[in-house]
Amino acid sequence: VYGQNTSKNSSKSLQINEKTLSDILEKNKAFYKEGKVADYIPELGKMQADKIAFSVVNENGKVINVGDVNQKFTIQSISKIIALMIAVTEKGEKNVFSKMGYFGTDKPFNHYANLETTGKPLNPMMNAGAILTTSMIEGEGDIPFKKILEMVRYITKNNSIDYSKSVYNSEKETGNKNRGMFYLMKNNGLIEGDEEKLNNYFKQCSIEVTAEDLAKIGYFFAHQCTRFDGDTTYKNAEISQLIQSQMLTAGMYEFSGEYSRTVGLPSKSGVGGGITVSVANKIGIGVFSPALDEHGNSAAGYHMILDLVKQYNLSLF
Ligand code: DON
Repeated sequence: VYGQNTSKNSSKSLQINEKTLSDILEKNKAFYKEGKVADYIPELGKMQADKIAFSVVNENGKVINVGDVNQKFTIQSISKIIALMIAVTEKGEKNVFSKMGYFGTDKPFNHYANLETTGKPLNPMMNAGAILTTSMIEGEGDIPFKKILEMVRYITKNNSIDYSKSVYNSEKETGNKNRGMFYLMKNNGLIEGDEEKLNNYFKQCSIEVTAEDLAKIGYFFAHQCTRFDGDTTYKNAEISQLIQSQMLTAGMYEFSGEYSRTVGLPSKSGVGGGITVSVANKIGIGVFSPALDEHGNSAAGYHMILDLVKQYNLSLF
């Protein structure tokens, strides 16, 4: 309601518990019926539409999980924030963003017309910019992919994480639009090298995670790249600011503006049905429900995030 008191008390612990999360999950799980499981990558279409999970890493780094907590799904576009972190660390922000923009968008994630006009991708969150970002990570063959995988394993402290070969093959076989973008960028002088570079992008999208892993990724960027257990090996405020700003601007694609009005937090979605959210200096949120809305974002996932944000007054604004 307009005019409602939304004063914040940042020093108090939020005291989110399992009951809070399971109440929100129960209230919103039926929203999956309004969405559709992605099947443009055929292997993704096999996911059961009513699977759902909700995770938070709280202010103290404690994990709270409800729903289908062990359900694995592919990370998809959420991997783009990890790839951006690595590319910027290796090449510098100036260099990376000389090849693409910091723009928001009114276009879907696989839009690429800018490659014909300005010649450059709009941002590193949409497919074109993400394919370019991964191509900038140093190393031959699948070394860039391995760096992304190792970073996901580090952030989640979960060495069992790997990629799904069947999803990878499915993406590779059907990803001709991505292949088209890859060659347009090669034509424009933005990418050097062969399709191995594109395969690294397909592989990073096929990394399998749980909602808990996504909450840990959210926590990491919310805390200046400090891991949930307090490990500061990669601590870097500049990088976390950059990543969160891109998540806020373009992490939910053409829905980002409206999402920033309703949720108001840096977030990144993937067509596997996951969303990761960073609440700066506080918590990380991870949701999973594979049925997607018309923007390619998890339908029930969005509604669970929205309820948590309202209940705890978490919006930035
Ligand atoms: O390249 C693709 O189309 C997928 N591997 C990733 C797209 C994606 O996750 C968009 N996010 N909502």
